[in-house]
Amino acid sequence: MSEDERKTILAIDDDPIILNQIMSILKDGYTIRPFTSGEAALKFLEAHPVDLILLDCNMPGGMSGFEVLAKLHDTADYKSIPVIFLTGSVDGDDEVNALANGAMDYLLKPIKDRSLAKRVSLQIELQDYRNELTQLVAARTEELRLANTKLLEREKITLDLLARAGDLRDHDTGEHINRTTNYVRIVAEDLVQNPKAGYELTVLRAQDIVEAAKLHDIGKVAMPDGVLLKPGKLTPEEFDIIKTHPIHGAQLLDDAVDKLGDDDLLREARNIAYAHHEKWNGSGYPRKLVGEDIPLSARITAIADVFDALTSERPYKNAFSNEDAFRILYEDAGSHFDPYLIEVVKRHEKDFENIRAGIGRE
Ligand code: C2E
Ligand code: SIN
Ligand code: FE
Repeated sequence: MSEDERKTILAIDDDPIILNQIMSILKDGYTIRPFTSGEAALKFLEAHPVDLILLDCNMPGGMSGFEVLAKLHDTADYKSIPVIFLTGSVDGDDEVNALANGAMDYLLKPIKDRSLAKRVSLQIELQDYRNELTQLVAARTEELRLANTKLLEREKITLDLLARAGDLRDHDTGEHINRTTNYVRIVAEDLVQNPKAGYELTVLRAQDIVEAAKLHDIGKVAMPDGVLLKPGKLTPEEFDIIKTHPIHGAQLLDDAVDKLGDDDLLREARNIAYAHHEKWNGSGYPRKLVGEDIPLSARITAIADVFDALTSERPYKNAFSNEDAFRILYEDAGSHFDPYLIEVVKRHEKDFENIRAGIGRE
């Protein structure tokens, strides 16, 4: 074995004779660092890594072996160094106490040469094995993390793609989806930060809602161009067709849920697609749901969707100013919109304005 590959053993005993004995037994296989006090040995450890520690139990005049052991155990960098305790008492509780306090093994004095060599090599072998396992687990964990990150990234990109494809005909840049999603994020993050009965959101659920909101209008793929792109007011018959887009969206997402099984993100996407045109007072469509029967995610998206529609130009309308858009939202609190969520919006006007202006947020 070359010098570099040698393991280093810290030997701590107040008796130089014992230290000499340890050196003579182990010097051929290991680099031995002998110390006659715990204090000096701990000082040495601060700057030098070691592979194993032989520790005398009883060292009158300085730190006892137990005190050194406690110090090793409390220090993150030293915690994993195996310690073999050396004890002179045959009848006392030293061995039990040593093992209970983190020592890996103990030897009774007088030390038997072959016993020491054997125990030391066993502990070194175990330690190598532990280190190898730790490295394997770390490497595997990192691999999994990378694979998972890649999958999540792909999922996000696929959802974006789908949402943009669905929106291509009436809004060609994808900006409507980005802004709507960001308004949803502002409201959802406020609910995470400020828990209120009936409105509790975990961080994860908020993230799902933000992603799912992208697909709110996916059902518009089933709308004929003549209706969707009509430059002017819709007839009641045409609006009846528009009113089916949430149903088309829900059906598309139901199919996806059937294939994947229960999935939080897809379930939110379905809720949002189905219920984003419902109104708090029950006058919305397609199901005329009332109040809290409308899923929270859809109530949030309704506000985001309308704010963006109001502040945007459409084939059938000019853009309102932010001020007018907020005024319309606030007037419709309790009729169209969930009044508590409108209170949340009032706390974040500045964030909404920044998103509208394309500042900040992705
Ligand atoms: P959109 O243009 O994205 O509008 C989404 C929602 O924003 C509307 O849902 C409505 O709640 C709100 N909104 C939009 N413009 C105004 C407005 O000027 N004043 C007020 N108070 N709210 C407004 P709605 O009405 O259920 O419409 C759903 C979709 O149907 C619209 O999505 C749009 O694609 C289409 N649509 C609605 N009305 C017309 C129209 O008169 N002409 C045309 N061509 N399309 C329309
Ligand atoms: C000593 O070696 O210092 C005394 C024996 C013991 O460890 O108890
Ligand atoms: Fe819609």
